[in-house]
Amino acid sequence: MRLAYLLILALLTASASAQEGELRGHGGPVRSLAIAPDGGQAISGGFDQSAIVWDLKAGKARQILRVHEGAVNAVAALRNRRFLTAGEDGRVALWEAGSARPLRIDKAHDAPIAGLAVSADGARYSTAGWDNVARLFSIADGATLDTYEGHRGPVNAVAFLGHSLVTASYDATLRIWPADRNQPPKIVGTLAAQNALAILEDGRIAAGGADGVVLIIDVNGAILSRTQAADAPIIALAASPDGRNLAAASPRGSVAIINVGERGAKVRFTLNGPGLPVWSLSYSPDGRVLLTGGGDRLVRRWDARTGEHMGAVTAQGPGDELAAFVGVRGAEIYRACAICHTLSPGGDNRAGPTLHGVFGRKAGTAPDFDYSDAFKTLDLVWNAQTISRLFEIGPQAYTPGTKMPEQRVSDPSDRAALIDFLSQATSPNKP
Ligand code: HEC
Repeated sequence: MRLAYLLILALLTASASAQEGELRGHGGPVRSLAIAPDGGQAISGGFDQSAIVWDLKAGKARQILRVHEGAVNAVAALRNRRFLTAGEDGRVALWEAGSARPLRIDKAHDAPIAGLAVSADGARYSTAGWDNVARLFSIADGATLDTYEGHRGPVNAVAFLGHSLVTASYDATLRIWPADRNQPPKIVGTLAAQNALAILEDGRIAAGGADGVVLIIDVNGAILSRTQAADAPIIALAASPDGRNLAAASPRGSVAIINVGERGAKVRFTLNGPGLPVWSLSYSPDGRVLLTGGGDRLVRRWDARTGEHMGAVTAQGPGDELAAFVGVRGAEIYRACAICHTLSPGGDNRAGPTLHGVFGRKAGTAPDFDYSDAFKTLDLVWNAQTISRLFEIGPQAYTPGTKMPEQRVSDPSDRAALIDFLSQATSPNKP
């Protein structure tokens, strides 16, 4: 039921926003978001099956990571410039910044993974699975350390609380699993399916449910307060680093910023601006900026204190060249390319050259583009085979020395759709 609801919503928001005329990184709503501990980079995961590493200072996409077969539902940024992505495909991939292939892929669940958390010491990660269990893994070698069984429905979120693990489920309970696994978990009964978790700086637990309520719970499982944050399900929750505020997003409402005091919690204001609905949230380590991942496929920045919109992380494009291709599979895949390439004639170059007329063009010869030395000497003509091969084995292997960031489109049918789209959209004879 919930899956169907999410998918329908995703389709609606995807088509509704396609006309807005902005350059987007993701080809679908931005489902997951995490800012690295140093505040310089962020990672986002999309319904388009890709994850993007962003340079927040430059405001640009650095890398596109494609390995999941399904939505990238959860992401985490580790300390040493590494990232975790977890997908609808039940797998978790460990990445190192700058490298296009994951260091490792862990098969974690036989069902979609909805949530991911990293322990404070950075040594373990935990996953929330729609197979009704949560699992604990070693980041060093991917070994399964523990499985938490007991929920009667899909597990939607996990969080570390010291040495305990907290899980939130569709079964309308939260469970607090003590470090001593011989002890039973504390079960917290709630009034609705629980979707999202955040741990406050003082160790209290915040949970967001399908009833739009944010609960604050103590370590013993006692519910301290209930705050109506939205009139639709809460889908994402983030705690500010000082533990004083929570941001709660719902796919139909806006983002509520909740002030959490000693006694209770109360909605301070809601974000009003573009990019709604919001699917994912992350506070910067200094607490000043809130990033949101939206149904409009953009990652946006907000002043966390005032709620003022500070703009999108991507540069804004002149017009959406892809608006005419709504629903075309290849065009959806191409959205990740559009961060850097346009389709228009006349040397309209972004970080990469225009792809207008690329079929039959010798590599490295678009007008007015400053190619890498590797590209200048490349003896290669672009056509369906060569472009397909480029993204089958990746630019680093196919065109060593290139400055195009490493990315691959590993699924053959995705590649075929992309090439089909490109052959039409880049044609000098296109209508
Ligand atoms: C983050 C930026 C970026 C992204 C994303 C990107 N590219 Fe590129 N691309 C470049 C750059 C830069 C070059 C030029 C490479 C060089 O000079 O080494 C390039 C070159 C190319 C070329 C060769 C063009 C020529 O004139 O020789 C093709 C074809 C191409 N890209 C296709 C794609 C496709 C398809 C995608 C999406 C799957 C994509 N690119 C995503 C930056 C990017």
